[in-house]
Amino acid sequence: MGSQVEPRAFDILLLPGDGIGPEVIGAAREVADAAAEKFGIELAYEERDIGATAIRSTGEPVAEETLARAKESDAVLFGAVGHPDFDGSTVRPEAGLLALRRALGAFANLRPVAAIPSLLSASTLKKEVVEDVDLLIIRELTGGIYFGEKEEADSGGNRASDVCEYTREEIERVARVAFDAARLRKEHVTSVDKMNILATSRLWRAVVEEVAQEYPDVELDHLLVDAAAMFLIREPKRFDVILTENMFGDILSDEAAMLPGSMGMLPSASLGEPGSAGIFEPVHGTAPDIAGSGKANPYAAILSAAMMFRYALDLPDVAAAIEQGVSGALEAGVLTPDLGGEATTTEATRAVIERLSAGTSQA
Ligand code: NAD
Ligand code: IPM
Ligand code: MN
Repeated sequence: MGSQVEPRAFDILLLPGDGIGPEVIGAAREVADAAAEKFGIELAYEERDIGATAIRSTGEPVAEETLARAKESDAVLFGAVGHPDFDGSTVRPEAGLLALRRALGAFANLRPVAAIPSLLSASTLKKEVVEDVDLLIIRELTGGIYFGEKEEADSGGNRASDVCEYTREEIERVARVAFDAARLRKEHVTSVDKMNILATSRLWRAVVEEVAQEYPDVELDHLLVDAAAMFLIREPKRFDVILTENMFGDILSDEAAMLPGSMGMLPSASLGEPGSAGIFEPVHGTAPDIAGSGKANPYAAILSAAMMFRYALDLPDVAAAIEQGVSGALEAGVLTPDLGGEATTTEATRAVIERLSAGTSQA
């Protein structure tokens, strides 16, 4: 691979979305372009609206045509959706992201969480608790309570319900992703559920146990989600791969962002069956409180672009070069305000690009 020229351009669909989404996706694109140039790779972009931006122009959070383009692309680089203007509305920007995940069958969301040596002081937790943390949350992404039937409008404002449903097949396929990932790490899966209360969690635990039989080399344990939330703060080093359902994974991953120290540090990859386009999306939201101020931390989006090179484009050297660029920028103290510094989005992006160019193409 190295710096050899790739035979074709990769088609990347950019969906910046709302709030700080365009700011951090602009940064990720600049870094991806710099990396592509360095490695002799061609990237072809198309950009579309999603979220509040799309509702304003078309009335819908995502257009069918955008979903069709996503399916045809090699990868989707996604920012964030959501805007306070739509808080009282039944047409929600966030529905665009759910539709995208569903359309691409992106059932496994990989959210790596690692302590960053030069950033230990950015965490609100003690240094000895967070140093050497290295875990991977695998969140089921296209099932559960997010996608079950909802009752809302018909009840005259007095009653609402969300159905949580899981099938054996949905649990099996995401469990295999977790066990396969554990084999490349510390061979330990912690499955998180609420089996003392929820029927879906009892099915979850039984199916995960069955899948575990295929992986005798991987250690499996189980935690109830409330206890898992506690252990994530008390002893995060006990975790290697955390496998969990959609909503628990959503909540636990924001909590886990406090291990490296900021929402602005967590990237993710949302993957489906081989051959389907993955979505590469920072874990954070649209951060309306800082949107437009130049304070957004672009590292999560940049690291999501690195995951795109690794998982969608099969270019691990490029991914590693970007990750080293980010580590280098952090070590040099280029920190945005969420990390305790004063760097702007542009300065942080430039710092990564400078360090990319300084590295070797055989990273
Ligand atoms: P949020 O993640 O947007 O913000 C939470 C806090 O973290 C805020 O103080 C924000 O300033 C900070 N933060 C987040 N990302 C940051 C970054 N890159 N750099 C610096 N600081 C950062 O969560 P929220 O405030 O609960 O949600 C705001 C909106 O975003 C809502 O509409 C929500 O639905 C949406 N949301 C979207 C996604 C997504 O598109 N994937 C994820 C989460 C929330
Ligand atoms: C995330 C977000 C989304 C989720 C919302 C915006 C639909 O919070 O990616 O973590 O809950 O999955
Ligand atoms: Mn979330």
